Amino acid sequence: MGTILYYFTGTGNSLAVARELSSVIGDCKLVPIVSEMKKGGPIEPRADRVGIVNPLYFFGLPSIVAEFAQRLDLSHAGYTFSVITLGGWGASAAFSQLDRILKGRPGKRGLDAAFSIRMPGNYILMYDSPDTESVERILKKSGSLIKETGEMVKAGKKVSSAWSPAAALVHYMVYPRFIRHVHGADAQFSVDDRCNGCGTCARVCPVDNIRIGNDRPAWLHHCEQCMACIQCCPANAIQAEKTEGRRRYRHPGITLNDLTKQRSDSIIPHHEWETE
Ligand SMILES: Cc1cc2nc3c(=O)[nH]c(=O)nc-3n(C[C@H](O)[C@H](O)[C@H](O)COP(=O)(O)O)c2cc1C
Repeated sequence: MGTILYYFTGTGNSLAVARELSSVIGDCKLVPIVSEMKKGGPIEPRADRVGIVNPLYFFGLPSIVAEFAQRLDLSHAGYTFSVITLGGWGASAAFSQLDRILKGRPGKRGLDAAFSIRMPGNYILMYDSPDTESVERILKKSGSLIKETGEMVKAGKKVSSAWSPAAALVHYMVYPRFIRHVHGADAQFSVDDRCNGCGTCARVCPVDNIRIGNDRPAWLHHCEQCMACIQCCPANAIQAEKTEGRRRYRHPGITLNDLTKQRSDSIIPHHEWETE
């Protein structure tokens, strides 16, 4: 069969990139990593091409993507590739991390190609989200890069990521701490008076980490720090330190329903994508 594209997303950038890639590559199945992780045992895709699309977190892989890679056996995969979406720089450290994990798995099959795509930054705990104009500019630029990337994948091009000592150093300095605290870091989220208990935060959380009780969300401490809850709240009611007054961001082509579907077990065929 053609291509399997595994994806993880918080605010839609990686899903949008996965979709655009899929259109260029053709004969492609998009599979949410979170639904694969609900099944036990090794994950052994059989396809001509196997790709993983995910955001960059602290110069490394999101925790759930690292765990997913630790269960992947690519012995039966043809061409293998990674696509990392990011707001700034540092993807090379995450490619090395992923390649290292994959080479330690049965089949010892690492990456044939690594691609990074700059998208709007969504780490609202550290900075304001870009304004509409900047989002448009960044997405316009990324569009042609995604198309080029898709063509290279289709052609089975080998693309190694240039190793960056600076990225490796920052990864070494910040990533282990991020991973140590990631699941409990939701303790910093709270809601203000604008919360009306609508439950959007619980719906879009990819890892089912939020329960609504007494019309208020409660975080359950298996957070991935993806920012979906705080970014997608329709009332901008979820806050952490310094987020009051910051713009919220979700990829303009990705609906709340698209994010919700990430958690369902369904593999989403191309014709069922929503365009609302
Ligand atoms: C916890 C966290 C850490 C991040 N760390 C980085 C980083 O180290 N470098 C970077 O360029 N972008 C970083 N970002 C920005 C995201 O990688 C980027 O916006 C990505 O496209 C979001 O993808 P998504 O919409 O699919 O979740 C970070 C975002 C989050 C939520």
